[in-house]
Amino acid sequence: MAPQVWMVGETGEDLHGTREFLPLTKLEEIGVLHWHLDPKKSESEEELAEIRKERGYSYMDLIEICPDKLENYEEKVKNFFREHMHADEEIRYCLEGSGYFDVRDKDDKWVRIWMKEGDMIVLPAGIYHRFTLDDTNYVKLMRLFIGEPVWTAYNRPQEDHPVRQEYVKSLNGNTGFALAAH
Ligand SMILES: [Fe+2]
Repeated sequence: MAPQVWMVGETGEDLHGTREFLPLTKLEEIGVLHWHLDPKKSESEEELAEIRKERGYSYMDLIEICPDKLENYEEKVKNFFREHMHADEEIRYCLEGSGYFDVRDKDDKWVRIWMKEGDMIVLPAGIYHRFTLDDTNYVKLMRLFIGEPVWTAYNRPQEDHPVRQEYVKSLNGNTGFALAAH
């Protein structure tokens, strides 16, 4: 099963009260990569090792997001949901539980990715995004990184950030891509 993807509003609400699932090309066109593995199967371990080797993801750690397992939970969760970008890829593999990664599409609208057990995504450097838990209120994620991890989040607007500019340029000649800060 691939992750389910649909459009949401500014506060994460479903639009027109429904979830119209979108094809995964919606992610591909904005540079988001995705895989589906099975954390319980050894073949998946091999596949994960392969992905890590190919993409140079030498660093790995695990993070559990829920009130009793994450220090400064309230503050962290608030920051995760604030629209931001990073100077590097954000790579997450969902081992247990579930949660929502929202990314901006080419029209600057929110696309919600429902990550569940086995889903793995790579958000490209410079993409605006945010994260929030779903009703299950628990997720265990593997975080990967090339070399020593840097988790610095740059809150929107970051139109002058060279990594942001590079990302925008990579989106097919920028036509129709809203650059305005809000
Ligand atoms: Fe992030």
